[in-house]
Amino acid sequence: MTMIKKILNVFRPKPLADSVVVKPIANPRDFDANTHPQPEADKWTLSEFVVKTLVPIVGVHPYPLDELLLMCSTLNYFRPDLIVEWGTHYGASARVFFEAAQFLSIKTEIHSADLPLDVAHVENLQDQNMRGHLVKGKPVHLHFGDGLVIVQNLMKEKQPRLPLIFLDGDHAYETVQRELNILKEIAPRAVVLAHDTFYQKESSNYNIGPYKAVTEFATKHSLPIHSTVLGLPGMTLLYWGG
Ligand SMILES: C[S@@+](CC[C@H](N)C(=O)[O-])C[C@H]1O[C@@H](n2cnc3c(N)ncnc32)[C@H](O)[C@@H]1O
Repeated sequence: MTMIKKILNVFRPKPLADSVVVKPIANPRDFDANTHPQPEADKWTLSEFVVKTLVPIVGVHPYPLDELLLMCSTLNYFRPDLIVEWGTHYGASARVFFEAAQFLSIKTEIHSADLPLDVAHVENLQDQNMRGHLVKGKPVHLHFGDGLVIVQNLMKEKQPRLPLIFLDGDHAYETVQRELNILKEIAPRAVVLAHDTFYQKESSNYNIGPYKAVTEFATKHSLPIHSTVLGLPGMTLLYWGG
């Protein structure tokens, strides 16, 4: 095949297999940070995984396709040895991390925290049976408490090589700002995914607190950020420490 034909072939749409197969399709390529210093992932293979495996399990709420892909791409490139997320809620994000880690053969410990049931929060589930039900029976460690306190304890106890922290708890500007600042203090190297970070003009009445907190934090520390675009809820990747 000529080089031109090979290049065209890469960009030609490839049909998905008819049947939905809920198992790994192939191992996506690993990207070596020395030769690929910018985050890069095998999005074709991961897209098949998202469509065939993740969507049948978790659907596209609260995480649309581009956010599911960003979560998987982040795992593919950074290969964290500890994942700590909050809040757990139904367990959709925890399940995404579990399935993606399995698919990518990443040895990692997954911890998910949510507030105790009697703590008032607009999004706290009152039905104990629904809390984390998507990870029932899976090796995901569930915690009750403030996610920030739990991650602080886990950082001390586990001393991870590279933790991934998923912020999806309280979405007030001050909360996300505080969470990011404390994470920077306690983790010399970290990968952070923050949720609900979509920006829209004030007339929309959207909560742009998380957007404001992540962009200010990235500017203050001169960090690169990668965000999904053009629609709610929005997810942003940040990382530091080389
Ligand atoms: C938008 S939901 C998270 C969705 C969830 N990640 C999923 O996949 O279904 C927000 C959750 O964060 C919890 N939460 C709020 N503040 C928190 C905190 N400081 N620590 C832990 N969880 C918190 C709420 O109780 C609620 O269950």
